[in-house]
Amino acid sequence: MVQVFRTVSGFRAACENARTAGLGFVPTMGALHDGHLALVTEARRHAPTVAASIFVNPTQFGVNEDLARYPRDLEGDLEKLQKAGADLLFAPAVEEMYPEGEQTRVSVSRVAAPLCGSFRPGHFEGVATVVTKLFAITGACTAVFGRKDYQQLAVIKRLTIDLRLPINVVGFPTVRDLDGLAKSSRNFYLSPSERAQALAIPAALAEAQDTFSNGDRDAAAIANRARKRIEALTDRIDYVEVVDADSLEPVVGNKIDHRALLAIACHVGKTRLIDNVVLGEDARVVLGEKA
Ligand code: PAJ
Repeated sequence: MVQVFRTVSGFRAACENARTAGLGFVPTMGALHDGHLALVTEARRHAPTVAASIFVNPTQFGVNEDLARYPRDLEGDLEKLQKAGADLLFAPAVEEMYPEGEQTRVSVSRVAAPLCGSFRPGHFEGVATVVTKLFAITGACTAVFGRKDYQQLAVIKRLTIDLRLPINVVGFPTVRDLDGLAKSSRNFYLSPSERAQALAIPAALAEAQDTFSNGDRDAAAIANRARKRIEALTDRIDYVEVVDADSLEPVVGNKIDHRALLAIACHVGKTRLIDNVVLGEDARVVLGEKA
Protein backbone atom coordinates (compact mmCIF):
# COMPACT_ATOMS: atom_id res chain seq x y z
CA MET A 1 0.00 0.00 0.00
CA VAL A 2 1.07 3.56 -0.67
CA GLN A 3 1.59 5.30 2.66
CA VAL A 4 -0.04 8.73 2.64
CA PHE A 5 1.35 11.66 4.62
CA ARG A 6 -0.42 14.97 5.23
CA THR A 7 2.20 16.57 7.46
CA VAL A 8 5.74 17.75 6.82
CA SER A 9 7.00 15.98 9.95
CA GLY A 10 5.47 12.60 9.02
CA PHE A 11 6.73 12.69 5.43
CA ARG A 12 10.17 13.92 6.52
CA ALA A 13 10.52 10.99 8.95
CA ALA A 14 9.51 8.46 6.27
CA CYS A 15 12.05 9.95 3.81
CA GLU A 16 14.71 9.85 6.51
CA ASN A 17 14.10 6.11 6.99
CA ALA A 18 14.23 5.38 3.28
CA ARG A 19 17.27 7.48 2.54
CA THR A 20 20.12 5.14 3.48
CA ALA A 21 18.97 2.60 0.89
CA GLY A 22 18.04 5.39 -1.57
CA LEU A 23 15.00 7.60 -2.15
CA GLY A 24 13.42 8.53 -5.48
CA PHE A 25 11.03 11.48 -5.60
CA VAL A 26 8.39 12.59 -8.12
CA PRO A 27 6.67 15.92 -7.35
CA THR A 28 3.32 16.49 -9.08
CA MET A 29 0.11 18.49 -8.90
CA GLY A 30 -2.03 15.35 -9.27
CA ALA A 31 -4.66 14.43 -11.90
CA LEU A 32 -2.09 11.81 -12.75
CA HIS A 33 -1.63 10.38 -16.25
CA ASP A 34 0.84 8.00 -17.86
CA GLY A 35 3.45 10.78 -18.13
CA HIS A 36 3.54 11.17 -14.35
CA LEU A 37 3.51 7.39 -13.85
CA ALA A 38 6.47 6.97 -16.20
CA LEU A 39 8.39 9.29 -13.86
CA VAL A 40 7.53 6.98 -10.94
CA THR A 41 8.85 4.00 -12.92
CA GLU A 42 12.00 5.95 -13.76
CA ALA A 43 12.48 6.93 -10.09
CA ARG A 44 12.24 3.25 -9.16
CA ARG A 45 15.22 2.53 -11.46
CA HIS A 46 17.27 4.90 -9.32
CA ALA A 47 16.09 3.99 -5.82
CA PRO A 48 14.35 1.18 -3.89
CA THR A 49 11.84 3.56 -2.27
CA VAL A 50 9.81 5.99 -4.36
CA ALA A 51 7.90 8.96 -2.96
CA ALA A 52 5.48 11.12 -4.93
CA SER A 53 3.87 14.37 -3.92
CA ILE A 54 0.54 15.83 -4.96
CA PHE A 55 0.14 19.51 -4.22
CA VAL A 56 -1.63 22.06 -6.38
CA ASN A 57 0.73 24.89 -5.56
CA PRO A 58 -1.17 28.20 -5.44
CA THR A 59 1.92 30.43 -5.77
CA GLN A 60 2.73 29.19 -9.29
CA PHE A 61 -0.68 30.16 -10.70
CA GLY A 62 -1.35 33.69 -11.97
CA VAL A 63 -4.53 35.52 -10.94
CA ASN A 64 -6.33 34.71 -14.19
CA GLU A 65 -5.09 31.12 -14.39
CA ASP A 66 -6.79 27.81 -13.63
CA LEU A 67 -5.97 27.26 -9.91
CA ALA A 68 -9.63 26.91 -8.89
CA ARG A 69 -10.59 24.54 -11.70
CA TYR A 70 -7.33 22.55 -11.83
CA PRO A 71 -8.42 18.86 -11.90
CA ARG A 72 -8.24 17.09 -8.52
CA ASP A 73 -8.77 13.34 -7.99
CA LEU A 74 -6.84 12.11 -4.97
CA GLU A 75 -8.54 8.70 -4.82
CA GLY A 76 -7.97 7.94 -8.49
CA ASP A 77 -4.39 9.20 -8.16
CA LEU A 78 -3.71 6.92 -5.20
CA GLU A 79 -4.85 3.89 -7.17
CA LYS A 80 -2.59 4.84 -10.09
CA LEU A 81 0.39 5.42 -7.79
CA GLN A 82 -0.25 2.05 -6.18
CA LYS A 83 -0.18 0.32 -9.58
CA ALA A 84 2.92 2.25 -10.66
CA GLY A 85 4.72 1.05 -7.52
CA ALA A 86 5.09 4.22 -5.46
CA ASP A 87 5.70 3.67 -1.75
CA LEU A 88 5.03 7.07 -0.18
CA LEU A 89 2.70 9.93 -1.05
CA PHE A 90 2.92 13.41 0.40
CA ALA A 91 -0.38 15.29 -0.04
CA PRO A 92 -0.25 18.33 2.21
CA ALA A 93 -2.79 21.11 2.68
CA VAL A 94 -1.80 24.61 1.58
CA GLU A 95 -1.18 25.75 5.20
CA GLU A 96 1.26 22.89 5.68
CA MET A 97 3.45 24.12 2.80
CA TYR A 98 2.90 27.83 3.42
CA PRO A 99 2.77 28.25 7.21
CA GLU A 100 1.02 31.25 8.68
CA GLY A 101 3.08 34.41 8.29
CA GLU A 102 5.25 32.90 5.53
CA GLN A 103 7.46 35.43 3.70
CA THR A 104 10.01 33.41 1.75
CA ARG A 105 10.37 32.96 -2.01
CA VAL A 106 13.06 31.40 -4.18
CA SER A 107 13.74 33.15 -7.45
CA VAL A 108 15.94 32.04 -10.31
CA SER A 109 16.89 34.78 -12.74
CA ARG A 110 18.10 34.31 -16.33
CA VAL A 111 16.92 30.82 -17.17
CA ALA A 112 13.45 31.60 -15.74
CA ALA A 113 13.08 34.86 -17.70
CA PRO A 114 12.29 33.95 -21.35
CA LEU A 115 9.52 31.71 -22.82
CA CYS A 116 6.93 30.83 -20.12
CA GLY A 117 8.69 33.21 -17.73
CA SER A 118 7.68 36.22 -19.78
CA PHE A 119 4.06 35.09 -20.22
CA ARG A 120 3.46 33.84 -16.66
CA PRO A 121 4.99 36.43 -14.31
CA GLY A 122 5.78 34.87 -10.93
CA HIS A 123 5.18 31.32 -12.20
CA PHE A 124 8.74 30.05 -11.90
CA GLU A 125 9.20 31.81 -8.57
CA GLY A 126 6.22 29.79 -7.32
CA VAL A 127 7.64 26.57 -8.80
CA ALA A 128 11.16 27.23 -7.46
CA THR A 129 9.77 28.03 -4.01
CA VAL A 130 7.60 24.94 -3.67
CA VAL A 131 10.20 22.59 -5.13
CA THR A 132 12.85 23.97 -2.75
CA LYS A 133 10.46 23.40 0.16
CA LEU A 134 9.81 19.82 -1.04
CA PHE A 135 13.55 19.15 -1.36
CA ALA A 136 14.06 20.58 2.14
CA ILE A 137 11.56 17.99 3.40
CA THR A 138 12.75 14.93 1.45
CA GLY A 139 16.47 15.60 1.90
CA ALA A 140 18.95 13.89 -0.39
CA CYS A 141 17.22 11.94 -3.15
CA THR A 142 16.94 11.42 -6.89
CA ALA A 143 14.12 13.67 -8.13
CA VAL A 144 12.60 12.96 -11.53
CA PHE A 145 11.03 15.69 -13.68
CA GLY A 146 9.52 15.61 -17.19
CA ARG A 147 11.18 17.29 -20.16
CA LYS A 148 7.64 18.24 -21.23
CA ASP A 149 8.14 21.20 -18.88
CA TYR A 150 11.61 21.85 -20.26
CA GLN A 151 12.13 25.32 -18.78
CA GLN A 152 10.86 24.16 -15.38
CA LEU A 153 13.47 21.37 -15.45
CA ALA A 154 16.17 23.93 -16.33
CA VAL A 155 15.07 26.20 -13.46
CA ILE A 156 15.12 23.30 -10.98
CA LYS A 157 18.55 22.12 -12.15
CA ARG A 158 19.86 25.68 -11.70
CA LEU A 159 18.44 26.18 -8.20
CA THR A 160 19.70 22.77 -7.07
CA ILE A 161 23.23 23.72 -8.10
CA ASP A 162 23.01 27.28 -6.77
CA LEU A 163 21.53 26.33 -3.38
CA ARG A 164 23.91 23.37 -3.10
CA LEU A 165 21.02 20.96 -2.53
CA PRO A 166 21.90 17.25 -2.26
CA ILE A 167 19.43 16.32 -5.01
CA ASN A 168 20.18 14.35 -8.15
CA VAL A 169 17.81 15.91 -10.73
CA VAL A 170 16.88 13.57 -13.57
CA GLY A 171 14.99 14.67 -16.71
CA PHE A 172 12.66 12.20 -18.41
CA PRO A 173 11.42 12.31 -22.06
CA THR A 174 7.91 13.52 -22.84
CA VAL A 175 5.24 10.82 -22.86
CA ARG A 176 2.70 11.27 -25.68
CA ASP A 177 -0.70 9.95 -26.64
CA LEU A 178 -0.99 7.82 -29.77
CA ASP A 179 -1.91 10.88 -31.84
CA GLY A 180 1.28 12.67 -30.77
CA LEU A 181 -0.22 15.09 -28.23
CA ALA A 182 1.91 15.29 -25.08
CA LYS A 183 0.06 13.91 -22.05
CA SER A 184 -1.02 16.68 -19.71
CA SER A 185 -3.47 17.08 -16.85
CA ARG A 186 -4.77 20.09 -18.78
CA ASN A 187 -5.78 17.86 -21.74
CA PHE A 188 -8.80 16.95 -19.56
CA TYR A 189 -10.17 20.41 -20.40
CA LEU A 190 -10.15 19.87 -24.19
CA SER A 191 -13.34 19.13 -26.13
CA PRO A 192 -12.93 16.64 -29.03
CA SER A 193 -12.72 19.46 -31.58
CA GLU A 194 -10.21 21.38 -29.44
CA ARG A 195 -8.16 18.23 -29.14
CA ALA A 196 -8.08 17.97 -32.94
CA GLN A 197 -6.87 21.60 -33.09
CA ALA A 198 -4.17 20.84 -30.52
CA LEU A 199 -2.64 18.26 -32.86
CA ALA A 200 -1.06 21.21 -34.71
CA ILE A 201 1.51 21.19 -31.88
CA PRO A 202 2.98 17.69 -32.40
CA ALA A 203 2.66 18.20 -36.17
CA ALA A 204 4.77 21.37 -35.96
CA LEU A 205 7.36 19.64 -33.75
CA ALA A 206 7.61 16.65 -36.10
CA GLU A 207 8.01 18.90 -39.16
CA ALA A 208 10.82 20.80 -37.44
CA GLN A 209 12.54 17.55 -36.52
CA ASP A 210 12.35 16.46 -40.17
CA THR A 211 13.72 19.70 -41.63
CA PHE A 212 16.48 19.71 -38.98
CA SER A 213 17.47 16.16 -39.83
CA ASN A 214 17.51 17.18 -43.52
CA GLY A 215 20.20 19.73 -42.64
CA ASP A 216 18.24 22.95 -41.97
CA ARG A 217 20.09 24.98 -39.31
CA ASP A 218 18.23 28.30 -39.70
CA ALA A 219 16.62 28.90 -36.27
CA ALA A 220 14.19 31.61 -37.44
CA ALA A 221 13.07 29.65 -40.50
CA ILE A 222 12.36 26.54 -38.40
CA ALA A 223 10.45 28.60 -35.81
CA ASN A 224 8.45 30.46 -38.50
CA ARG A 225 7.33 27.26 -40.20
CA ALA A 226 6.19 25.88 -36.84
CA ARG A 227 4.44 29.17 -36.00
CA LYS A 228 2.46 29.03 -39.29
CA ARG A 229 1.15 25.55 -38.49
CA ILE A 230 0.21 26.52 -34.95
CA GLU A 231 -1.40 29.80 -36.11
CA ALA A 232 -3.62 27.98 -38.58
CA LEU A 233 -5.25 25.77 -35.96
CA THR A 234 -4.94 27.14 -32.43
CA ASP A 235 -6.55 30.25 -30.94
CA ARG A 236 -3.64 32.25 -29.54
CA ILE A 237 0.13 31.84 -29.52
CA ASP A 238 2.27 32.79 -26.52
CA TYR A 239 5.52 31.80 -28.24
CA VAL A 240 7.02 29.55 -30.88
CA GLU A 241 10.78 29.86 -30.56
CA VAL A 242 14.03 28.09 -31.31
CA VAL A 243 16.49 28.83 -28.48
CA ASP A 244 19.75 27.50 -27.11
CA ALA A 245 18.75 24.31 -25.24
CA ASP A 246 21.08 25.03 -22.30
CA SER A 247 20.75 28.78 -21.68
CA LEU A 248 17.27 29.18 -23.27
CA GLU A 249 18.66 32.34 -24.88
CA PRO A 250 18.25 33.16 -28.61
CA VAL A 251 20.40 31.18 -31.05
CA VAL A 252 23.46 33.35 -31.69
CA GLY A 253 23.62 34.49 -35.34
CA ASN A 254 20.44 32.47 -36.01
CA LYS A 255 22.53 29.47 -37.14
CA ILE A 256 22.06 26.36 -35.03
CA ASP A 257 25.48 24.94 -34.13
CA HIS A 258 24.73 23.85 -30.56
CA ARG A 259 21.85 21.96 -28.86
CA ALA A 260 18.69 23.83 -29.84
CA LEU A 261 15.19 23.68 -28.40
CA LEU A 262 11.97 24.32 -30.31
CA ALA A 263 9.49 25.42 -27.64
CA ILE A 264 5.80 26.11 -28.17
CA ALA A 265 3.12 27.60 -25.91
CA CYS A 266 -0.36 28.32 -27.27
CA HIS A 267 -4.00 28.44 -26.30
CA VAL A 268 -6.76 26.18 -27.56
CA GLY A 269 -10.04 27.60 -26.30
CA LYS A 270 -9.43 28.30 -22.61
CA THR A 271 -6.61 25.77 -22.32
CA ARG A 272 -2.94 26.69 -22.44
CA LEU A 273 -0.71 23.96 -23.84
CA ILE A 274 3.08 23.72 -23.99
CA ASP A 275 5.40 21.30 -25.75
CA ASN A 276 8.97 21.16 -27.05
CA VAL A 277 11.68 19.09 -28.69
CA VAL A 278 15.43 19.33 -28.56
CA LEU A 279 16.26 19.19 -32.28
CA GLY A 280 18.42 16.24 -33.27
CA GLU A 281 18.23 14.81 -29.75
CA ASP A 282 14.66 13.87 -28.81
CA ALA A 283 12.93 10.91 -30.43
CA ARG A 284 10.86 11.79 -33.53
CA VAL A 285 7.34 12.82 -32.50
CA VAL A 286 5.09 10.09 -33.90
CA LEU A 287 1.81 11.36 -35.35
CA GLY A 288 -0.20 8.17 -35.05
CA GLU A 289 -3.87 7.34 -35.00
CA LYS A 290 -6.47 9.16 -32.92
CA ALA A 291 -6.02 8.63 -29.18
P1 PAJ B 1 2.68 18.58 -12.98
O1 PAJ B 1 2.22 19.45 -14.11
O2 PAJ B 1 1.68 17.74 -12.26
O3 PAJ B 1 3.84 17.68 -13.50
C1 PAJ B 1 4.54 16.84 -12.62
C2 PAJ B 1 5.73 16.26 -13.36
O4 PAJ B 1 5.26 15.47 -14.45
C3 PAJ B 1 6.63 17.35 -13.96
O5 PAJ B 1 7.99 16.97 -13.79
C4 PAJ B 1 6.23 17.33 -15.43
O6 PAJ B 1 7.26 17.77 -16.30
C5 PAJ B 1 5.94 15.85 -15.61
N1 PAJ B 1 5.10 15.60 -16.81
C6 PAJ B 1 3.92 16.16 -17.10
N2 PAJ B 1 3.47 15.71 -18.30
C7 PAJ B 1 4.41 14.85 -18.77
C8 PAJ B 1 4.56 14.07 -19.96
N3 PAJ B 1 3.63 14.06 -20.92
N4 PAJ B 1 5.67 13.30 -20.10
C9 PAJ B 1 6.63 13.29 -19.13
N5 PAJ B 1 6.56 14.01 -17.99
C10 PAJ B 1 5.47 14.78 -17.81
O7 PAJ B 1 5.10 20.31 -13.06
C11 PAJ B 1 4.40 20.37 -12.07
O8 PAJ B 1 3.35 19.51 -11.84
C12 PAJ B 1 4.62 21.39 -10.96
O9 PAJ B 1 5.09 22.57 -11.52
C13 PAJ B 1 5.57 20.89 -9.83
C14 PAJ B 1 6.98 20.57 -10.36
C15 PAJ B 1 4.97 19.66 -9.14
C16 PAJ B 1 5.72 22.02 -8.76
O10 PAJ B 1 4.50 22.39 -8.27
